[in-house]
Amino acid sequence: MATNRTFTMLKPDAIENGYMGKIIDMIIGAGFQIKALKYTQLSVDQAKEFYAVHAERPFYGELVEYMSSGPIVAAILEKDNAVEDFRKLIGATDPAEAAEGTIRKAYAENKGRNAVHGSDSDENAAIEGKFHFAANEIF
Ligand code: RTP
Ligand code: MG
Repeated sequence: MATNRTFTMLKPDAIENGYMGKIIDMIIGAGFQIKALKYTQLSVDQAKEFYAVHAERPFYGELVEYMSSGPIVAAILEKDNAVEDFRKLIGATDPAEAAEGTIRKAYAENKGRNAVHGSDSDENAAIEGKFHFAANEIF
């Protein structure tokens, strides 16, 4: 059964480009409640661990370098059908393929620097939330 929480990161390009507020506003406007929120920066090791599932992919090194290159915003979000609805809100990985009205269509630079992360399953949402937040930081 679908749970009602997902996890997101506003990636370094989104912060660098000044879109932090606009993206958070879109997320809240789409009906998500913020249950945890943090402005932080991933170390190289944390970025490696977070994206370990892609370790064998050709873009892994570039992805780790980019995700640790500057500050991010991490958040746990709540809404009915959170994982699926948030993936719809962020749009396709490549902004050139992302639908109108999605966060990536509006704010991503390209397939690598694509503004925002969204968990791809309930199981990963729980793992990723715990990766970033202690129990007393989740509301
Ligand atoms: P995310 O995990 O960050 O929400 O993104 P996603 O599910 O849409 O895409 P995924 O396949 O999980 O890839 C993770 C991130 O790796 C970078 N990427 N670069 N250059 C490339 O071909 C390429 N492919 C993926 C992106 O930052 C992507 O979001
Ligand atoms: Mg993914």
